[in-house]
Amino acid sequence: MGNSSARITFHDLLPPPHNMLGEVLAGLAQPQKTLPPKYFYDARGCELFEAICNLPEYYPTRTELAIMRLHAGAMADLLGPDSALIEIGCGNSEKTRLLLEASQPAVFVAIDIAREQLEASCHALAQTFQEMAIIALRADFAQPVALPVAALGLAGRRILYFPGSTIGNFTPAEARAFLARWAPLLGAGGGALIGIDLKKDAVRLNAAYNDARGVTAEFNLNLLHHINRVLEADFDPAAFRHHAFYRAGHGRIEMHLVSLRAQRVTISGHGFELREGETIHTENSCKYGIAEFQDLGRAAGFEPVQCWTDSANLFAVHYLTLPQ
Ligand code: AVI
Repeated sequence: MGNSSARITFHDLLPPPHNMLGEVLAGLAQPQKTLPPKYFYDARGCELFEAICNLPEYYPTRTELAIMRLHAGAMADLLGPDSALIEIGCGNSEKTRLLLEASQPAVFVAIDIAREQLEASCHALAQTFQEMAIIALRADFAQPVALPVAALGLAGRRILYFPGSTIGNFTPAEARAFLARWAPLLGAGGGALIGIDLKKDAVRLNAAYNDARGVTAEFNLNLLHHINRVLEADFDPAAFRHHAFYRAGHGRIEMHLVSLRAQRVTISGHGFELREGETIHTENSCKYGIAEFQDLGRAAGFEPVQCWTDSANLFAVHYLTLPQ
């Protein structure tokens, strides 16, 4: 761990695995079976997601990075000095480093569900950003997060950084509730810097979630491997196929796993049936117009301040603040 560990505090807020069993069983008991997308991210899932980010078809990562390269300085000017920057995600991306370099926060808080990734990336950041205190919070950010406010010390403005369009994995109602939950934690004058994938033609969107190499398919199917391993389940991943499509009416990509035959699956002793062709809905990835997302922010108590996009209008980074 070296010297870097002295400035990193780790808090594990994740409930025990029986919550996972409850959530998985509850999702599979619904008429449209669902599984929570947060369970994509075991070690293999994290690797596959990283591979997705480098796919030619998956434009969001490189587009957001290009926006950050151009505008991190302007963003930092708005954020101000000595902030507490709170990232949803483990902070291992180049985007985060650009923002940290430009804004030099006093404290950096990384919140992620994947413990190993979280610890590894916080240690790597500590090597570079030697003056910055780092708090690693292992938590499910879809639930209320108990921010260790005392640990933020004398840091100034609290800024939520939520890159990657991960907010799109919530429905709009969930995204609004998520931001409204964060407003009191950020406090008056706090801010939020949020990356969102913009609405665009369906061909491009469908290609991004149906890559030629099948990495996204493997990422989707890995959810079943993860559940098999952790919850003693007997999903046969070969009996499912990846299906992702843009549902224009809802402005979102939906990912499903389609059962290739009638089958029975057992999870920790609980059995359930799937018909041939029946699907398990595994992820929503919502796309927004710029004004549409600003309205969502307003509904959660934030005021839009600025928005940066790329020249092809594929992606946007929004800065919103809370009134003083
Ligand atoms: C993490 N999240 C923003 C990704 C997305 O695009 O919704 C997850 C993903 N699913 C399939 N490909 C990428």
